[in-house]
Amino acid sequence: MVHTNIVQPGKLRYPTIGVFDSGFGGLTVLKALLEQIPDIEYLYFGDTARLPYGSKSVETVARYAVEAARFLESRGAQMLVIACNTATALALDQIKSASKCPVIGVVEPGADAAASASHMKNVVVIGTEATVASHAYRKALESRGMKVTEKACPLLVPLVEEGWIEHSVTEQVARIYLDQAFQESARQSDVLLLGCTHYPLLKPVLRQVAAPHVAIIDSAESTARAVAASRPQEMLTNPLADPERRSAPRLKFFATDSIEKFRRLGARFLGHPIENIEHVDLKE
Ligand code: DGL
Repeated sequence: MVHTNIVQPGKLRYPTIGVFDSGFGGLTVLKALLEQIPDIEYLYFGDTARLPYGSKSVETVARYAVEAARFLESRGAQMLVIACNTATALALDQIKSASKCPVIGVVEPGADAAASASHMKNVVVIGTEATVASHAYRKALESRGMKVTEKACPLLVPLVEEGWIEHSVTEQVARIYLDQAFQESARQSDVLLLGCTHYPLLKPVLRQVAAPHVAIIDSAESTARAVAASRPQEMLTNPLADPERRSAPRLKFFATDSIEKFRRLGARFLGHPIENIEHVDLKE
């Protein structure tokens, strides 16, 4: 269990990473970051009022994502992690051009993890409609020598948001999607890459549904590793100098919709209660 401290606005003293997602799902990436880099501050922005991104156009997603990135920078983020697969797949380049600090998305780290796990060099990727239509994962995996089958699974995000994590309906839906995806891949795939922030919560169901030889990979852990490896010098802290930081990362959350809902649903994704949430109204 991670204990958290409250960040007082305007008093950022620690190296700070901004994490952005369309809503709650990116908290699975924040959770992995907290495990690997516990000794800094995190600002998490969930664009809950404009979720889902997965069914929106490139132009809309890019505009929303750039606004969120600018907001996080204005609040002191020195590095940005785009935890949202859809925003990474559709708008990483625009976010990078609009940001002054380093930006890391989830697609490249996810592709790295899937490629190293696949002995058959054959990966099935599942994600939102927009992520699949962008073929960002296909490009990233093919450049690593993989064969790729992509499958949009639009019903899975609402099922997770409803809390139907281990529900029989969710299992049925997952079975239909995976049957189709693995049939298309001629059953040669030995890796299922979860290309959406919400899917890690469905790992128990997906494990039941996927064939036993299929490894299930999500990009949260590999993204956290990529962030740890590439954070700029000024963001490195000496844990020995302040051992308390290792067990007390500082967290501040921003949500564009109800704080109450963020608190309730967010805890499910992060795995512990969420405090210190501020409502943000981004003017367009
Ligand atoms: N965060 C999105 C993703 O990872 C899923 C939710 C949405 O569609 O906004 O693709």
